[in-house]
Amino acid sequence: MIRLAILASGSGTNAQRLVEHFAGHAAVEVALIGTDNARAGVVQRAWALGVPLFQFDKFMLRNGELQNELTAQRTDLIVLAGFMQLIPAELVRAFPKRIVNIHPALLPKYGGKGMYGDRVHAAVIAAGERETGITIHFVNEHYDEGEHIAQFHCPVRKDDTVGSLAERVHGLEHAHYPEVVEALAAGKRVKG
Ligand code: GAR
Repeated sequence: MIRLAILASGSGTNAQRLVEHFAGHAAVEVALIGTDNARAGVVQRAWALGVPLFQFDKFMLRNGELQNELTAQRTDLIVLAGFMQLIPAELVRAFPKRIVNIHPALLPKYGGKGMYGDRVHAAVIAAGERETGITIHFVNEHYDEGEHIAQFHCPVRKDDTVGSLAERVHGLEHAHYPEVVEALAAGKRVKG
């Protein structure tokens, strides 16, 4: 079995989609959901889904405790799903090309520190973009700069609000993240 660890800081809708996608899968299982935010929606989702939850703080992220837990859980692939902390260089080195992130825009545009969630959609609308989308990429020690794996596009409509655009982009994420992670877990090249 290929074992996934999902890290999430927010509502956790992508984490839930991933868990549901791999439920009963022959080759891939979600070993744990890790969160740095005890009050995040993802905590309730992990309980409801019956997936082991690992809670950690910034210190445990930086002092190697999270890494120890991931290793102890025999993690093959780390999947970030709305995880808001920078991944320490040591963790990146320990999991080369085995940490994946999803970003709600077409990187390299609208990425970097402080560019997450609704802030991204607000910036896209303010810039008058006619198209946006999602980027799935490997993680390195800089925010949103790792090698791209796949991008998927959607329109920005004239009357879009941050809410309506976020909903469209979330839809793209839910449709594509599980299948891209599945392909990566199987060692396949990904188109998109
Ligand atoms: C997703 O849109 C994801 O792309 C974004 O956070 C949201 C989490 O939603 N990630 C980033 O902005 C990372 N820079 P969710 O909690 O409902 O899955």
